[in-house]
Amino acid sequence: MSLSQLARSIKESATLKLNETAALLREKGEPVIHLGGGEPKSKCPVDAVINCASVLNTGEIRYTAPDGIPALKKAIIRYTEEHYKKLVSADNVIASGGAKQALMVLLHAILDPKEEVIFPAPYWVSYPEMVKLAGGIPVPVTAEDGTFFPTVKEIVAVVNSYTKAIILNSPKYPSGAMYSKDFVQEMVEFCEKKSIYLIMDDIYNRLVFDGKSAPICYEFAKQSVEESKLVVINGVSKMYAMTGFRIGWAIANKALVEAMGTIQSQQTSGPSAPAQWASVGALNGVQSAVDSLRVTLENNRNVMMDRLRAFDGVKVYQPEGTFYCFPDFGAYMKDSQKLSNFLLDKVRVVTVPGKEFGFEGHLRLSYCGTIRDITEGLDRIKWALDTNSANELYLGDRKLVREWV
Ligand SMILES: Cc1ncc(COP(=O)(O)O)c(C=O)c1O
Repeated sequence: MSLSQLARSIKESATLKLNETAALLREKGEPVIHLGGGEPKSKCPVDAVINCASVLNTGEIRYTAPDGIPALKKAIIRYTEEHYKKLVSADNVIASGGAKQALMVLLHAILDPKEEVIFPAPYWVSYPEMVKLAGGIPVPVTAEDGTFFPTVKEIVAVVNSYTKAIILNSPKYPSGAMYSKDFVQEMVEFCEKKSIYLIMDDIYNRLVFDGKSAPICYEFAKQSVEESKLVVINGVSKMYAMTGFRIGWAIANKALVEAMGTIQSQQTSGPSAPAQWASVGALNGVQSAVDSLRVTLENNRNVMMDRLRAFDGVKVYQPEGTFYCFPDFGAYMKDSQKLSNFLLDKVRVVTVPGKEFGFEGHLRLSYCGTIRDITEGLDRIKWALDTNSANELYLGDRKLVREWV
């Protein structure tokens, strides 16, 4: 088979692959606990279902404008005004097939071959592959002090004449860490001064805990939306538990949005019409689902933190948002891929190796499942790794004997 160089250079999404593996094992009746999931388990808002169903009931589901239906753009404008205190117009909004497609058409619209895109590590698995798909060069930046927070100085140090954009995701995947107001301010000011695109991937910005809120980039922008190279990415997937609907959006200057719309029109045409109407329902409807998801996740995070702190040798940063945490298990096994395989093999717990996000020794654990999944999953991990644990463990009526340590 002859495949393009590009096809051969792109990695499969490790997290989607893990979902497949977990599903296959479950089909075989294996008692799998999935701590690798990347989507909330709550139901989507009822307003989304009602809106979507009423469109489906008409039986007339047609193409839409390539950049989204006016009603969705209106809802996104209202959302931006409410949550970012920023008034934008319909020309500044493009709705896409998920935040992922919004990012992808954005990268296609701004990158020339070999231009560089910087993002801090650990990063979302898709950033490097998406940059490569758009012909660019991914440039991850790792903090020298080993934290999840590269400094502005460390980021500025890799900026050169090929740098086209910087992507910041806050609170961020996979650590749940959130950038400070000062950091966001400095990055906005730096990018304005250097005329570099600053892409704020805000997909988790409503899932923030402990009464905090995510810093808002527009607060620090001196340029108007039309002059600015600031782009905000968001979507319904995480905050409304609507991952399957595939609707996300970008807010940017009019010329950029137009270019993205043209690319999208040739790539996929407009996003699915029922999904757009569902998103209008979610955005305009009762917002209690977001609060209730946030409260559930905060509680789940607390349970996961308590369990992790009981491990000798595991270092863990308490997430300020998202539904992930990213503990360092390096004291048990340095190779995170090996460790993740070991945990799946021995105790049937799915975790995502930190190597996928540019951080060895760590595992990404998600707490978007049930409390039972979290407690039992971590109990199984502890049993598998901790030499002081009992020699035997029961998974249902299956008896495991620890013969490896
Ligand atoms: C950091 C980040 N950005 C964007 C996305 C894409 O979200 P969507 O489902 O809207 O494509 C994800 C999904 O996992 C994500 O983690």
